[in-house]
Amino acid sequence: MQSVFAVTARGLEAVSLREMRVIPGIQNAQTAYRRVLAECDSLLPLLSLRTVDDVFLQVAIWPQIDHTRSALGNIQDWSAEFDLPKAAGIISKIRPIAQIPSFSVTANFVGKRNYSSEEIKSSVAAGIQEQWTWNYLEDDRESDFNIRVFIEHQTALVGLRLGKRPLHERSYKQVQRPGSLKPSVAATMLILADLKPGEHLLDPCCGVGTIIIEGAVMGAVVQGGDVDSEAVEAANANAASANIQTRFEQWDARNLSLLDGSVDCVVSNLPWGRQIQIDADLKAFYRDICTEIERVIRPDGRVVLLTTMPDLLNFKRLRLVEQIEISLFGQNPIISVFKIGEI
Ligand SMILES: C[S@@+](CC[C@H](N)C(=O)[O-])C[C@H]1O[C@@H](n2cnc3c(N)ncnc32)[C@H](O)[C@@H]1O
Repeated sequence: MQSVFAVTARGLEAVSLREMRVIPGIQNAQTAYRRVLAECDSLLPLLSLRTVDDVFLQVAIWPQIDHTRSALGNIQDWSAEFDLPKAAGIISKIRPIAQIPSFSVTANFVGKRNYSSEEIKSSVAAGIQEQWTWNYLEDDRESDFNIRVFIEHQTALVGLRLGKRPLHERSYKQVQRPGSLKPSVAATMLILADLKPGEHLLDPCCGVGTIIIEGAVMGAVVQGGDVDSEAVEAANANAASANIQTRFEQWDARNLSLLDGSVDCVVSNLPWGRQIQIDADLKAFYRDICTEIERVIRPDGRVVLLTTMPDLLNFKRLRLVEQIEISLFGQNPIISVFKIGEI
């Protein structure tokens, strides 16, 4: 059994727990702040997780991290004690690794302290280089392994990333645009929508197509569009690189050429006016888009919307069942989940 931890966006831990629990061989899965901790006997299935940002083999827990600068010396000493060849040997069963691997370090912390994450990174790198011949690289993109140090108050969790690249990076995302959603958040919204294979999924404001492509990977019949022709072009390019058979359309989400009650799930990351400008005042835009969503959704349909302005989401028949505030690009948008009928 190996101890592992997955890192998520704040607020999404419970959904990632749900996704991890159904992996065969997972035991003792539980949430912590921005993480899901678990034990498992096979690491490979963890690389298919879609809602987490990344997943790591746990290599150490440091229980007594001080907030003063003296902690940096301890961090360096403890880093020299990792059994990195053993951990790398475990990971080599799921992907090839170099004879003398290179490594990068990522550090983040919760709670005040008198040193920075850059200083934590330097201490970890120095400790590892004292003990092993591994090459330290600043650039995570170039390294074979990423070592993640996650300090919450006095306790640090240290892990070696299972994949060469973070899980939230999807190779299909060849074209990015401002406001583009993190694929792991898109996948989480689809799970919250209870999307099932074969269901009809609509994203009326698709941007570069992240939600639709994630939905297609989950087996949905997908349809997306955007008012902006460049977004439509980008979404089509990304879908092609993901091998997804769909054509995104240029349309106005307030006036869709779709039949009444024809869609099982609407999942969308609505424009909220900061990165994405719209051609109407936001109140009127949200009123009109809610009316249109309510027109096209089936009687048993589900709607999941991400916005910083959930108060502007008003439906007649759809009822709010859940709201989750998340951290995303320095903002705190809210995922709102709606279903039809009495709650
Ligand atoms: C926050 S972005 C969506 C990002 C998308 N989830 C992604 O991953 O790229 C909002 C999108 O709404 C689109 N939009 C704005 N007004 C629209 C309208 N009236 N009809 C359809 N799309 C619209 C914008 O062009 C933008 O691409």
